[in-house]
Amino acid sequence: MAQGKVDALLGIVFGDEGKGKVVDYFTPRYDVVARFAGGPNAGHTIIFEGKKFVLRSIPSGIFDEGKVNIIGNGCVIAPDLFMNEARELEAAGYSLTERLHISRRAHLILPTHRVLDRAYEAAKGKAKVGTTGKGIGPTYSDKAARTGLRVGDILDGFTQKYERLKARHLQILADLHFTDFDITEEEQRWLEGVDYMRQFRLTDTEIEINRYLAEGKSVLAEGAQGSLLDIDHGTYPFVSSSSTTAGGVCTGLGVAPNKIDKVYGIFKAYSTRVGAGPFPVELFDATGDRIRDIGHEYGAVTGRDRRCGWVDIVALRYAIIINGVTDLVMMKSDVLDTFDRIRVCVAYEKDGVRTEDMPYDTEGWQPVYEDLPGWQTPLTEVRSEADFPPAFSAYIKYLEDVLRTPIAIVSVSPDREATIIR
Ligand code: IMP
Repeated sequence: MAQGKVDALLGIVFGDEGKGKVVDYFTPRYDVVARFAGGPNAGHTIIFEGKKFVLRSIPSGIFDEGKVNIIGNGCVIAPDLFMNEARELEAAGYSLTERLHISRRAHLILPTHRVLDRAYEAAKGKAKVGTTGKGIGPTYSDKAARTGLRVGDILDGFTQKYERLKARHLQILADLHFTDFDITEEEQRWLEGVDYMRQFRLTDTEIEINRYLAEGKSVLAEGAQGSLLDIDHGTYPFVSSSSTTAGGVCTGLGVAPNKIDKVYGIFKAYSTRVGAGPFPVELFDATGDRIRDIGHEYGAVTGRDRRCGWVDIVALRYAIIINGVTDLVMMKSDVLDTFDRIRVCVAYEKDGVRTEDMPYDTEGWQPVYEDLPGWQTPLTEVRSEADFPPAFSAYIKYLEDVLRTPIAIVSVSPDREATIIR
């Protein structure tokens, strides 16, 4: 952590890498914690002082008195869901209004964006993305089309702007013959949420964050989703609609590339994916079920089963390059404790063609594996590298060699102390 710099903490595969735990571990060192992309499609589970919280839009530094938390311009916010989340924190005794700053340039998710999300998915038939249904895609579409509503609009001529955009959405829904919705109640809550948001610091966080950096403060950019869900670099069209990679830190917060210092790339000792889309390492057998059961791989937002597979070097290597990862963080290593053989996907193969580079179209590629011996020893009580079973040390060494990037942190159980710095 360097003064006057931004460190980024990013999930580098398909999200759900366990960022919540790492952010929780990291935040005490930073002055400012900022979210730069995504919205309530995220679900960061944080256990703080024995209580469990799922943060969706609010940065994870919110539990700490002295920290500034920023929801950056690259984010999208649903006022009703934001209100629920904030009230829950307030009820638990955390005061937010001074500590949470929201960019006026962040975009608002309207109730009709959520209906559009459903309508577009329904229209796609078999090619569904399997979205979280939170209106993410339609909101970013309006942003790109220059028709969106921003947080700053809450403060100026809001009703008229809202009604205009809503009418536009209703017209699109009528054109699609999508009638399966009634937003009356939801809209009431949403408008209440808009009112509720007015008490927060709705400000130019882009200027603020640069002022903090000039004063020598340290900033942690907290990622959401994962690199392979990035709108540009992910497995398009099976992606989310924001820039989840390191470039998104710059555009989503208004910080220059030369302000970024460390880029921590978080991955699990195996792979998971929620929703549709190519996933070459997916296991359809009992091994996949076993990883899901032991790793509790069910979605934090939608409760869906996560698809599971072995670690994917092709994907990781690609994400390391795209993000400029300086340090890797390996999560949930203990989930593999009981396996006698650990497989590692080192390349993809299709029609006799082998590639170690992420292909343009990941559909139809088969994984090429190398096998390593399992450690078959419980890791959850291990607190120091000296106590790693030799086969686990060999797994780490193998990954570091093929990824040419150090694994700086290893997590061996959900406990805060089970985080081993190497
Ligand atoms: P959307 O972000 O709701 O539009 O969903 C697009 C794709 O991203 C779907 O496959 C979702 O399952 C996936 N996705 C969105 N947010 C997350 C997340 O926080 N973790 C994992 N997958 C996510």
